[in-house]
Parts: sequence; C-alpha cells; structure tokens
Amino acid sequence: MTVSAAQNAPNPAASNPNAPTAETVLSVHHYTDKTFKFRITRPSSFRFRSGEFVMIGLPQETGKPLLRAYSIASPSWDEELEFYSIKVADGPLTSRLQAIQPGDSVLLARKPTGTLVLDALTSGKRLYLFSTGTGFAPFASLVRDPETYERYEQVIATHTCREVGELAYSREIVAEAKADPLVGEYASAQLTHFCSTTRETSDHHGRITALIESGGLFDALGVPPLDPETDRAMICGSMDMIQDTKTLMLKAGLREGANSEPAEFVIEKAFAG
Ligand code: A2P
Repeated sequence: MTVSAAQNAPNPAASNPNAPTAETVLSVHHYTDKTFKFRITRPSSFRFRSGEFVMIGLPQETGKPLLRAYSIASPSWDEELEFYSIKVADGPLTSRLQAIQPGDSVLLARKPTGTLVLDALTSGKRLYLFSTGTGFAPFASLVRDPETYERYEQVIATHTCREVGELAYSREIVAEAKADPLVGEYASAQLTHFCSTTRETSDHHGRITALIESGGLFDALGVPPLDPETDRAMICGSMDMIQDTKTLMLKAGLREGANSEPAEFVIEKAFAG
C-alpha cells in the first residue's frame, strides 16, 4: 500500500480508544540519502516530556499498523511534533516512511515514554548529551526546552556521524535554538555543540567513546574530565554506542538513573522492549 492509499484507510482510533491516531504530515525535509525529518500535527490531548519517545508508523493492508519507537525531536511546548529518521532501503517502515509528503497521514500512538528526561537525573552543573547518527533526535527536543537551561549551567550536545553531511540536522537545530525567541538567550550562553566524524575529515575526528577515553573531548571543550559531583549525561545512539559510552560513565563514577530513581546518567531504552 502506498502512503496516499494509507491515508484513505479507516482511522483505527474510531473503534479502539487506545489505538494510534492518524496525524497529518505538515512538512518533510531530506538531509542526506540516509536521513530526513518530518513534522506532523499534534493532538491537543498529546502530552510528553522533552526527550521521550513514542510509537509511530503507517497502516498496513494486513490490518495491524506497522509501528516503531521514535524519539520526539520537538520540545514539549511545540504545537507540532517533529521526528528525525533514518532511511533504510529494505526497512519495513522507513522504506515507506521516507516517501511521505505533506498532507499524508502518519499513525501516532497515545502514550509517549522514555528515560532521556530531565526528571531522571539529579541536579548538577553540566549536562552532556552524547549522540551518534539519528540518536541526536531526543536532544533536538531537550536543547529547545528552557527547563534544560534552568537546571544546568552548561549543556554540551555531542554528535558523531560517519560523514560531515550527516551533521546537518544537529547543526540546524543548534542554530535554531540559539535564534529562538523562547530559548535563544539561554542557548546562546549555555549550549555548546561538539561534532565529530569517523569516516571523513572534519574539525574533530573519532568516536565519542575514543574522545572521552583520550580526554580529547574535554581538552577541546576546555572543561575538566567527567566528575560525578558536577556532571550529568544522557546517551543515545546504536546499541553498541550506548553500551560503550555507558561503560565509560560508570568508570568515571557516574551511576545510571531512572524516572523512579534519578542519578547521574541515563541511556535510551527504546531498543530494550
Ligand atoms: P564508526 O564509523 O567508527 O563505526 P552508525 O551509522 O554505524 O550507527 O554510526 C554512527 C556513528 O557512531 C559513527 O561515527 C560510528 O563510528 C559511531 N559508532 C559506532 N559504534 C560505536 C560505538 N560502539 N561506540 C561509539 N561510537 C560508535
């Protein structure tokens, strides 16, 4: 079924109050042959905390909708919902999702959740947001939320990709945050964006894990090494990246937090279930 055919499919919410709602695509922007962002309508009853994820997807002819966990990239105050997605040629969902156009429908589940939220961390001085690839998405939400800057003096958002072109989204979001009427003043004074690439030359080369281990990250930023007294961290990327970065947090003496028990760092749990 094409996306436009999906638009004419019956709205699943009509028969089941817990079923996803059909939302309208408002805009689509392709960054590279691997990534794109899109914005959809936000139902007035849809509440979330910046950094959370939600299941989104498309209807299928078999009847059961095809849904995947996506971090919400827009901040909680935004009237629309933004998502940043990878394109996988043979991916069941993204092979179809990458073809959406404004006016098409996307299914949105009703209950967002997640651990990459400010409430899962104890207070501190400096907040690190470590991301690779499309893992920047939840941080696109958090760097546009004023609460992030109210809680931390300094916010360091790192983004590592294979190639320079893949850094376009985070660069755009950081520039947008710094120019935004609501958070611009905070972001300009408190937000640092650190980018590195691993398969193409740029200002900083190497995996974020290697840069943490060597201390190259802290030297480049002009800040002291990780300290559980002052530093907090959120981690989002591939499962291997999350695991390896988590190991380094534990080595530095930071403890993993959760909504029920805030501590010094949190990892994306969208892959877990
Ligand atoms: P590398 O090019 O050395 O594999 P991917 O597209 O595979 O998810 O990778 C996105 C970025 O994350 C790449 O720069 C990649 O580096 C890096 N990366 C992959 N695995 C890890 C890991 N275990 N720890 C840290 N960074 C990683």
